[in-house]
Amino acid sequence: MAEKKLTVIDLQRMKENNEKVVWVTAYDFITAQLAEQAGMDMILVGDSLGMCIYGYDGTIPVTMDQCIYHCEAVRRAAPKTFVIGDMPFGSYQTSVEEAVANAVRFHKEANVDAVKLEGGKRVTDIITKIADSGMLVMGHVGLTPQSSNALGGFKAQGRTAETAMDVIEDAQSIYEAGAFSILIEAVPPEVTRIICDKLPIPIYSIGAGIHADGQVMIVSDLVGHFQAFTPKFVKRYGDVAGEITKSFEGYIKDVKDGKFPGEEHAYQMVEGELPKLLDRLK
Ligand code: KIV
Repeated sequence: MAEKKLTVIDLQRMKENNEKVVWVTAYDFITAQLAEQAGMDMILVGDSLGMCIYGYDGTIPVTMDQCIYHCEAVRRAAPKTFVIGDMPFGSYQTSVEEAVANAVRFHKEANVDAVKLEGGKRVTDIITKIADSGMLVMGHVGLTPQSSNALGGFKAQGRTAETAMDVIEDAQSIYEAGAFSILIEAVPPEVTRIICDKLPIPIYSIGAGIHADGQVMIVSDLVGHFQAFTPKFVKRYGDVAGEITKSFEGYIKDVKDGKFPGEEHAYQMVEGELPKLLDRLK
């Protein structure tokens, strides 16, 4: 378990020392507690909670209130871990003022250490304003799930020279705007390497290759909980869905077969009280 929470200075130093940062998403108390106990460097309360918790098709319907509730639970569970709140669709698109107000909500109500928002050149003014207000903001480029309609689906980005240049320019512009770090999603490793070498801030990857300064995975993919689909970049480290199914099937069978609850699961009446009760019922 971490001795003390990492700071932006530690994250910067880790990049300079080639020390990988490992992080994961979490949405609830128990998972966040396990992540902290395991020694995770950072936790993202991702808007992927739309799919992983609420069963939506994507992240578009996720609201600020939902993100705040889940951030609060994660913060309580992981006081020594750097926690990032993911700004949901609609919380930063309408105006710079509203974006700053929502970033402030994440900090005041859920005590996060940073916020993350999606987009490149088109969000630079928002990033600058949030950073100038004294908050840490992480950028997110490449595949940006909140704009999956505009991108034509959940597709890898930057696979041609021209689209790779778009990703590189997006990263450059949000670095210049004041982002303290950048997450790159679903982009070939060569493109990530160029960005890592070019920019002095930490560059993290989800499906963007080994050269990044750290990796994040969606917890429900990592532990084998989410079953609807599996992106190419996912490595499963567990079979939580299989374990839950096994437990449910065992429980159903035991109850139907009269094997549960057993004597060991029952409370005993205080000695001598049962005859008295039966007497009173006569
Ligand atoms: O919402 C999320 O979980 C994300 C992932 C791509 C890391 O932003």
